[in-house]
Amino acid sequence: MDNKAIFKKLWSYVKPYYSRLLWAVACMIGVALFTTASMWILKYVIDRIFIEKNIRMLLMIVLGLPLIFLLKGICSYGQGYLMSYIGQKIVLDLRNDLFAHYHQKLSLDYFENKRTGSIISRITNDVGIIQNAVSSGLVSLVKDGLTIIGLIALMFFLHWRFALYTLIFSPFIIYVLAIFGKKLRRVSTESQQKTADIYSILIETISGIKIVKAFCSEDREINRFERENRDFFNITMRSMRVISLSPPLMEFIGVLGSTIFVWYGGTEVIRGYWTAGAFFSFVGAALSTYTPIKSFSNTNAVLQQTIAASERIFKVLATEPTVMEAPDAIALPLLQKDIVFKKVSFTYDTDDTEQVLSDIDLVVKTGEIIAIVGPSGSGKTTLVNLIPRFYDPTAGTLMMDGNDLKRVTLASLRNQIGIVTQETILFSDTVRNNIAYGSPQATDKEIVKAAKAANAHSFITAMDQGYETLIRDRGINLSGGERQRIAMARAILKDPRILILDEATSALDSESEQIVQEALDQLMMRRTTFIIAHRLSTIRKADKIVVLEKGRIVDIGKHQELLNRCGLYKKLHEIQFRD
Ligand SMILES: Nc1ncnc2c1ncn2[C@@H]1O[C@H](COP(=O)(O)OP(=O)(O)OP(=O)(O)O)[C@@H](O)[C@H]1O
Ligand SMILES: [Mg+2]
Repeated sequence: MDNKAIFKKLWSYVKPYYSRLLWAVACMIGVALFTTASMWILKYVIDRIFIEKNIRMLLMIVLGLPLIFLLKGICSYGQGYLMSYIGQKIVLDLRNDLFAHYHQKLSLDYFENKRTGSIISRITNDVGIIQNAVSSGLVSLVKDGLTIIGLIALMFFLHWRFALYTLIFSPFIIYVLAIFGKKLRRVSTESQQKTADIYSILIETISGIKIVKAFCSEDREINRFERENRDFFNITMRSMRVISLSPPLMEFIGVLGSTIFVWYGGTEVIRGYWTAGAFFSFVGAALSTYTPIKSFSNTNAVLQQTIAASERIFKVLATEPTVMEAPDAIALPLLQKDIVFKKVSFTYDTDDTEQVLSDIDLVVKTGEIIAIVGPSGSGKTTLVNLIPRFYDPTAGTLMMDGNDLKRVTLASLRNQIGIVTQETILFSDTVRNNIAYGSPQATDKEIVKAAKAANAHSFITAMDQGYETLIRDRGINLSGGERQRIAMARAILKDPRILILDEATSALDSESEQIVQEALDQLMMRRTTFIIAHRLSTIRKADKIVVLEKGRIVDIGKHQELLNRCGLYKKLHEIQFRD
C-alpha cells in the first residue's frame, strides 16, 4: 500500500465528520490569530501606557485584553472538543469495522497463523495511534503551524532585520536541544531494554527455582543477574550525566541568547529605530513560538507512526477470507441422506509437500455414529474441522445430500452442526447464557431440559446462584467434567442434525466419566455423529470406525472386525482406548 492509498482510506473515515472538521479548522485559525494579537498588544501596553501614560489606552486595553483571551479560549475549547470528537468517532468506526471483519469475514487459518497479541493490538494500539494523530497530530499541524506563521509575521512587521537574524540563529539553539533529546531517548530505550532483561531473568529463575536448585546452578544465575544489574547501573549513570548536564547548559545558552538579544535590541531602541514596546512585543512573540515549534517538530514522528498503524489496520481490513461463500450460494436443506467425502486432501500450509489428509473417501448415512480413531497427530481433528468448513479441502469435495459444501451458505451449513471440542470453550457469562449461546431464543424450560439431558442440572442447581452463576475466565471455577457437560447441554439445546465430538483425552475420574458418558448417549440420539473417540464404550457403539494414520484411512469397520484384521487398531486398542 502506498501512502496515497493509505491517506485515501483514512480520509474515508474522516469524511463523515467533514463539517465538524471545517469548524475545528476555523477555531484553530482563531487561536492562531488571537495568540498573535495578544503579543502585538504588548507593544501598545508599554508604549502608550507606561511611556506615554495615556489613560484612554489603558481603559481600552483593560477591556480589550480579556476579550481577546476570551475569544481565544472559546476557539481553543472548540477545536479541542471537535477534534477529540472526530478522533473518538474514528476510533469507534475503525474498532467496529475491525471486530466485524475478524469475526464475520476472516477464516480460522488467519487466527492460527497470527499471534493473538498482534491481532488484539490492531484494535487497541493501532487504532489508538490514529486517534492520537487526529486529535493531536492534525491539531498541531494546523493550529501550531498557523500560530508560528502569525508570530513570525508579527516579528517581521515589528523589525524585519532583527526577525531575520533571529530566524537564522535560532536553528542552532534548536539543534543543540535536539541533540540532547535524541541522546536522552537513546539512553532511555537502552535502560528500558535492560529492565526488561532483568525482569525476564527474575521471572524465569523464580518460576523455575526448582530446576535452578535441582541443577545446582544458583551461582550461575546469580552471576548472570549481577552482570545485568551492573549493566543497568552503567546505563543509568550515563543517562544521569546527560540529564544533570542539561539544565545548567540550557540556562547558559538561554542567558547567552538573551544577552545578545537585549544588547542588539537595546541599541536599536536607544538609536530610536524602534520603541521599547515593539521590542518587548517582539521578544514575547519570539518566546511564544517555542511551544508550537516543539509540538510541530513532533508531527513528523506522529505522521510516520500513523502511516504505519493505518497500513497495518487496512491490511487486516483488506484481507480476504480463505473460506468464502459462493456469490450464488444456496441454503442447504436439512440433512436427509448422507455426507460424502470424495478424494479429500488437505494441508494447512500450501507450501508443505506433506499432506495432513490425503485421499479421504468416506460415506456417512444419516443417523450413523462414526468413530474416528488414530494416533495423536494423525489428522482426526482436522478431518472433522472440514465438515463445518472451518477449512476447505485443498483437493476433492465434501457433499451433503449431493450438495457441494462450497456451494451452500455457511450459516445454513453451520446451523445444522453442533460441536463439542477437545478444549471446552465457555464465555464469561452466566451458566444459563453459556448453555443458550447457540440458541439465544431458548426458554428457561428448554435450557433446564437440555442441562438435565447433559447431566448438568444437578451440579448447576447446587451452585449458589444456580443458572445465574457467573462463569469466570473460561470456566476456572468449574471442574473439567462440569465444563464438558455445560458444553454438551449447549449442543443438545441447539438440537443439531450433525454432531461433532472431539473427546477430551484428559482422564476424568470414573464417576464423572460415567456421568459424561450418559450425557453423550443422550446427545448422540437421532443424529449423525462424528466422534473422535478414546472410550471403548463409545467405540463399540459406533456404526463405523475409521482408522486414521498419517492422514490416510487405513481401515473402516466394526470393532470386532478391526480387532481381527487391523494391526494399528489392535495397537490403539491396547494403549489408547480406556473404559
Ligand atoms: N492449525 C494448524 N496449522 C498447521 N498445522 C496443524 C494445525 N493443526 C494441526 N496441524 C498439524 O496437522 C496434523 C494433524 O493434526 P490434528 O490436530 O488433526 O491431529 P489429531 O489426530 O487430532 O491429534 P490429537 O489426537 O493429538 O488431537 C499434525 O501433524 C499437526 O501438527
Ligand atoms: Mg485432535
